[in-house]
Amino acid sequence: MYAIETKSLSKIYENGLKAVDEVSIKVDDGEIFGFLGPNGAGKSTTIMILTTLLKPTLGTAHVAGYDVVLQAKKVREMIGYVQQDSTVDEYLTGRENLELQARLNHIQKDLVKNRIDEILNLVDLSDRQHDSVNAYSGGMRKRLDIAGGLLHRPKVLFLDEPTLGLDIQTRYKIWEYIKKIHKEYDMSIFLTTHYMEEADRLCNNISIIDHGKIKVTNSPVSLKNALGNDVIVFEIDSDANLESLISEIQKIQLVKDIKTNGEEITVFSTNGNQVMPKIFELSPKVGIKIESISLTKPTLDDVFLSYTGKELRDENGGYNNKKEREKMRRLRA
Ligand SMILES: Nc1ncnc2c1ncn2[C@@H]1O[C@H](COP(=O)(O)OP(=O)(O)O)[C@@H](O)[C@H]1O
Ligand SMILES: [Mg+2]
Repeated sequence: MYAIETKSLSKIYENGLKAVDEVSIKVDDGEIFGFLGPNGAGKSTTIMILTTLLKPTLGTAHVAGYDVVLQAKKVREMIGYVQQDSTVDEYLTGRENLELQARLNHIQKDLVKNRIDEILNLVDLSDRQHDSVNAYSGGMRKRLDIAGGLLHRPKVLFLDEPTLGLDIQTRYKIWEYIKKIHKEYDMSIFLTTHYMEEADRLCNNISIIDHGKIKVTNSPVSLKNALGNDVIVFEIDSDANLESLISEIQKIQLVKDIKTNGEEITVFSTNGNQVMPKIFELSPKVGIKIESISLTKPTLDDVFLSYTGKELRDENGGYNNKKEREKMRRLRA
């Protein structure tokens, strides 16, 4: 049995928008599975279907073995759901928030105290449990949100963009907590993110989702390996003969794929050191000057680019592959 299994799951909103388009996934028991995609890709819509808050238009979904439509109550007993936006009450203390959550989840009264103690300890909020949430930092609030989702010991935990908008240090800390929770409790985790590094660091397997459609599903390592060993990125002075340059590069042996976003050309190759000089030889032939070139190892950014034809930019100043590349870039005079 899978922790999550969907078959051709689709959601068409009333305005006709197909937010989720024939999504079929299988999430094994105990794994951390990620949905990686840009804003508007359909991640939250999928999570809302899986957590029974929204009915699918077509297709089926099972969570912990139960059908999300026909056995919604059973599904709700098995899952924890931490929404994209914080749901904690500002004016209550951390502990009071969890007590409220425990009541909403119908947790047996005599269990509540111990559960809350245990979970506060797990997310390192014991010291601050009697402070009102007003006084909490963004990272503390998120930890409290996650704690709320754990109270009834779910078999499957859903985290919708768990580190959205948090600064990079706080994001790293949240990752540590997610890993710790995963290790400590015997549970599967389904998370959504548009941070490459988050998917890379946390997930056993990911699906890349764009415009409601799954582009590819695999482990981050396999996805990166499939692109070959090397990524060559270069900038050119004018794109007048871009097409002829690209078609010439395609003919070079060891080139697996080429993408361009207008400013840069990205070449995926099994041996960058051999391909790079050939690109240099070619460019004057088609009248193009290479302004800069770099050779790097594939990242999930490159995987995303290769499957969607565009880059997944991080608007919150976190991991940004282009900046990384700028650092490594070798200027040729
Ligand atoms: N209630 C709604 N009615 C109509 N369209 C919606 C509704 N909710 C979301 N959408 C649209 O569906 C698409 C997917 O949204 P969402 O699932 O929130 O994406 P993500 O979580 O990946 O950012 C977006 O284009 C969004 O604008
Ligand atoms: Mg969302």
